[in-house]
Amino acid sequence: MRLISSLFLFFLVVSATAGSSGRTVANKILKKPAARHPCKRLVFYFHDIIYNGQNAKNATAAIVGEPSGGNKTILAGQNHFGNLVVFDDPITLDNNLHSTPVGRAQGFYLYDKKDIFTAWLGFSFVFNSTQHKGSINFAGADPLMNKTRDISVIGGTGDFFMARGIATLLTDAFEGEVYFRLRVDIKLYECW
Ligand SMILES: *[C@@H]1O[C@H](CO)[C@@H](O)[C@H](O)[C@H]1NC(C)=O
Ligand SMILES: *[C@@H]1O[C@H](CO)[C@@H](O)[C@H](O)[C@H]1NC(C)=O
Ligand SMILES: *[C@@H]1O[C@H](CO)[C@@H](O)[C@H](O)[C@H]1NC(C)=O
Ligand SMILES: *[C@@H]1O[C@H](CO)[C@@H](O)[C@H](O)[C@H]1NC(C)=O
Repeated sequence: MRLISSLFLFFLVVSATAGSSGRTVANKILKKPAARHPCKRLVFYFHDIIYNGQNAKNATAAIVGEPSGGNKTILAGQNHFGNLVVFDDPITLDNNLHSTPVGRAQGFYLYDKKDIFTAWLGFSFVFNSTQHKGSINFAGADPLMNKTRDISVIGGTGDFFMARGIATLLTDAFEGEVYFRLRVDIKLYECW
């Protein structure tokens, strides 16, 4: 008798649990997902000056790869398809190239489409100041014709240990094919 009643109780508990989780799933399907809010938000600018054969002192980036027929002083035709650029760019808190840098943006971009202007970015923000120590790592497609582009924040170290989120890029300035400045609005959704 005791065995039968405890089996009955067990059945009740199991069916109640299944029922409530079933309702939770239904609610999740019917309701819009809850809005997510960043746990941390940071805005920086970085400045890229491409070596063009004349600005060795000033340049912060170099063309290291080019398609056949191109060269390493001028970005190639066909939307620069096939060019690979390595950079070590100053990061500033405002949009002034001459502001004191708070870190370096280090990595590469490559142009990866012939018919439109688009790139792929892989780089880190490296900080070693009293304000921030550590790095934030970024990767993703950068469709340059869009006013803003979202790329992934795929990780971090130090103050940004295990960081993950989205960085919204905006081309804040563009001077010929030598200088550009990006505004980077970092929204972290995972903070430790
Ligand atoms: C590099 O290529 C461009 C055309 O894309 C050309 O105008 C320029 O003269 C070339 N420079 C060198 C050093 O070959
Ligand atoms: C960071 O800065 C400190 C103090 O200036 C210096 O001792 C240290 O070597 C720097 N670390 C890196 C990785 O540059
Ligand atoms: C970029 O812009 C195009 C055309 O304006 C749009 O269709 C596309 O969704 C945008 N992509 C991103 C990643 O914002
Ligand atoms: C360095 O390059 C930038 C972008 O082309 C330019 O605005 C700036 O005046 C240059 N600075 C020097 C010292 O040449």
